[in-house]
Amino acid sequence: MAVRYTESLDGVTADMLAGFFEGWLVPPSPQRHLRILRGSTYVVLAVDDAQGRVVGFINAITDACNSAFIPLLEVLPAYRRQSIARELVARMLQKLADYPCIDLTCDTALQGFYEKFGMRRATAMIVREYSRPGPRGAGS
Ligand SMILES: CC(C)(COP(=O)(O)OP(=O)(O)OC[C@H]1O[C@@H](n2cnc3c(N)ncnc32)[C@H](O)[C@@H]1OP(=O)(O)O)[C@@H](O)C(=O)NCCC(=O)NCCS
Repeated sequence: MAVRYTESLDGVTADMLAGFFEGWLVPPSPQRHLRILRGSTYVVLAVDDAQGRVVGFINAITDACNSAFIPLLEVLPAYRRQSIARELVARMLQKLADYPCIDLTCDTALQGFYEKFGMRRATAMIVREYSRPGPRGAGS
């Protein structure tokens, strides 16, 4: 399963984004997923052109000055354990290399994975209210 990496959303449609948000209580629809990607400062996608689908993605939002946040990283189950996430993270951290602060939240099981990129463990505070619609205009 050959995979191509891209930072562009050109030609990416919602139907290429099926299958993500595994295990989420309220998974965003593929249409909302596309809006998430379009609203991000940076994205890196892993694309399987033969299947016509996105098989992995990472996004980042920034203040264009000091701080960057990586909200999401996911690889479709059938494509895992092939170092796709490793490549996505490496490429995104390269994009963010000038930012003094780069934050993300993750399960403790994945802290060792991120440490391989030189990231440090920290604590975090979060809100997760998936019944909220998003800001006006974001849609469902
Ligand atoms: C976590 C996830 C992105 C890894 O994707 P992947 O393409 O299979 O990862 P890679 O093949 O690049 O593996 C990178 C390293 O992470 C480790 N790893 C992968 N998945 C892991 C997991 N669930 N728990 C702990 N370690 C994991 C691998 O062992 C590998 O290290 P190694 O090669 O030294 O053994 C994928 O399992 C996923 O999408 N999970 C659901 C969403 C999620 O948890 N996202 C993370 C949000 S912070």
